[in-house]
Amino acid sequence: MGVADHTHRRPDLRRSVELFRAFKVEQTDPARFYGLLARDTVAQVSQWTALTGQRVLDVGGGPGYFADAFEAAGASYAGLEPDAGELTAAGITGQNTLRGSGLALPIADASVDVAFSSNVLEHVPAPRVMADEMVRVTRRGGLIYLSWTPWLSPWGGHETSPWHYLGGDRAANRYAEKMGHRPKNDFGTSLFACPISEMLDWTREAEQAGRVRRVAVLPRYHPWWAHWVITVPGLREVVSWNAVIVLEKR
Ligand SMILES: C[S@@+](CC[C@H](N)C(=O)[O-])C[C@H]1O[C@@H](n2cnc3c(N)ncnc32)[C@H](O)[C@@H]1O
Repeated sequence: MGVADHTHRRPDLRRSVELFRAFKVEQTDPARFYGLLARDTVAQVSQWTALTGQRVLDVGGGPGYFADAFEAAGASYAGLEPDAGELTAAGITGQNTLRGSGLALPIADASVDVAFSSNVLEHVPAPRVMADEMVRVTRRGGLIYLSWTPWLSPWGGHETSPWHYLGGDRAANRYAEKMGHRPKNDFGTSLFACPISEMLDWTREAEQAGRVRRVAVLPRYHPWWAHWVITVPGLREVVSWNAVIVLEKR
């Protein structure tokens, strides 16, 4: 089964507001935020491929926040996570999860139907390598879903935001001074600048090499009528908040 053309499901403003409200309680009520995000994301992915019976690999899936939502949609879910601490975070048992890195997936070529990744590219030093790996393990006609927070997004610096606008090192050092410990998302170690332009360049090269077909590029949380922002160089880096690239493996 191949990937359907983008059917323009119409995500409205109410959905964006709901996600934003839940995001504000991510630290205090993670189950609410991640439950809502997972259901929303699986609904989004479903517009491009029917998930029933599909093998989904969630690269950098943490403890498996998205497992229940993918399984409720009929998919067979496997997570991949390098960090043992993340695997057991949030009291989730991390079922069906492999230890490994997205930069060298311990998985055979063309062995999954959907290679999925949410908010991981900005945490690896070589996002193009991770994207290449996700293409490699996807079968022909399968779907690759990449979503991440671009560096110039208001949340680009994660907990060091908005000081990252003055430089990643400066923002991380300022955080460390103020809080007495390094940020979890420490610039140059566990957080890197991953602009949309870089992943669009990678997409263009992969398309030219005949490895993928571009299915959609959009700002993940925006209502449909604001999707155009992702087409404007410069502006898109700041206002997309979170970028999504969806590809079909050729
Ligand atoms: C912000 S969390 C995202 C978790 C989940 N995917 C989500 O959307 O909520 C980033 C995750 O990327 C993982 N990660 C960091 N480096 C990685 C790598 N080289 N390969 C795969 N995952 C990695 C982290 O351990 C962490 O679980």
